Amino acid sequence: MHLWETATRPVPSPAEPACNDSTPRYLTARIVAHRQIAAATFRIRLDCPEIATQALPGQFAMLRIPDRLDPLLARPLAVYDSFSAPEGDAVQGPPSQRRYVDFVYVVHGKFTTALKEIPAGENLIVWGPLGNGFVAIPAVEHLVLVAGGIGQTALLALGKEQCGRASYGLPPRSRPTSRVTLCWGARTAAAFGDVADFSQAGIDVHLATLDGSAGQQGTVIDLLNTLEPDWNSPESRHVACCGPEGMMEAVAAWTAGRRIGCHVSLEAPMACGIGICFTCVARVREAASGASPDEPPAWDYRRTCVEGPIFSAASIEW
Ligand SMILES: Cc1cc2nc3c(=O)[nH]c(=O)nc-3n(C[C@H](O)[C@H](O)[C@H](O)COP(=O)(O)OP(=O)(O)OC[C@H]3O[C@@H](n4cnc5c(N)ncnc54)[C@H](O)[C@@H]3O)c2cc1C
Ligand code: FES
Repeated sequence: MHLWETATRPVPSPAEPACNDSTPRYLTARIVAHRQIAAATFRIRLDCPEIATQALPGQFAMLRIPDRLDPLLARPLAVYDSFSAPEGDAVQGPPSQRRYVDFVYVVHGKFTTALKEIPAGENLIVWGPLGNGFVAIPAVEHLVLVAGGIGQTALLALGKEQCGRASYGLPPRSRPTSRVTLCWGARTAAAFGDVADFSQAGIDVHLATLDGSAGQQGTVIDLLNTLEPDWNSPESRHVACCGPEGMMEAVAAWTAGRRIGCHVSLEAPMACGIGICFTCVARVREAASGASPDEPPAWDYRRTCVEGPIFSAASIEW
């Protein structure tokens, strides 16, 4: 099936996913569950074995509402998790048996405002999985996930994989089990939805709010400082971060100052999601590209949808 060929396909059995290569396809997927989980935040489950079986932590999909010209362009949403059952999350199963994929979104503009009104049983147009995912995260003793606002969506699968609670992709990757901490910051307590997804996976959850209504009052930087003031042995730790750009820039500076490795998931506006339109470019520095050690490395534009969305924080020209 060609990428641009819209297909209402026969539903494959869970044991026989419709495809097992990594080529993103332009598909029609049925909504099987859709519910509100926090203020202006919704969780939607699609019947889409192509993405459920293959998506790696940190990858995303493009979503569109069929038969609507406004909004015309699809929107990117991070793959939150994947399951083998249409309801609940008790049964996840191995990636080859997964058929359902979850996305979590905050109501923001035209697409998400329209999406929240679409009930289970209706279809969406979707293509993915897209992007590189968190494939370059090194094996460390302690992985710290840092989320701002709705940024947790890109981090759950990585945390579950790193805790040894789930694997993702075909063939599934095996990652060394390690300690995982989530530092999640938001304006107010009402923004936190399905926090138990993280804690039940064995992730140590710490919340921060600007108004003090949940967790520590302040930002994720305050949380990081409070959690472990010395942050010694930086080589045994790594940070994976997703959230508003200013927050990611602050986390990048914080980790750089402590020589802690950090990867960020950039949320650039996107139009095609597959590398054609260059809507999504970010300025990324080439490693060791400076003419002399005193010169900063040169940067070039990189497409967030194909070369990202995950980049080393040190490589981003913010
Ligand atoms: C790889 C990736 C994964 C994402 N995952 C999620 C997710 O899991 N959940 C979620 O809720 N959102 C996610 N987003 C962000 C989401 O795609 C955008 O917020 C999207 O624009 C929402 O569509 P909308 O039509 O509701 O809002 P729009 O009408 O598109 O946007 C309204 C306003 O926000 C601005 N805007 C649009 N996109 C962005 C952006 N990325 N950053 C800052 N400002 C923007 C527009 O210029 C406009 O002013 C992700 C983005 C990327 C690139
Ligand atoms: S969104 Fe079109 S090139 Fe990235």
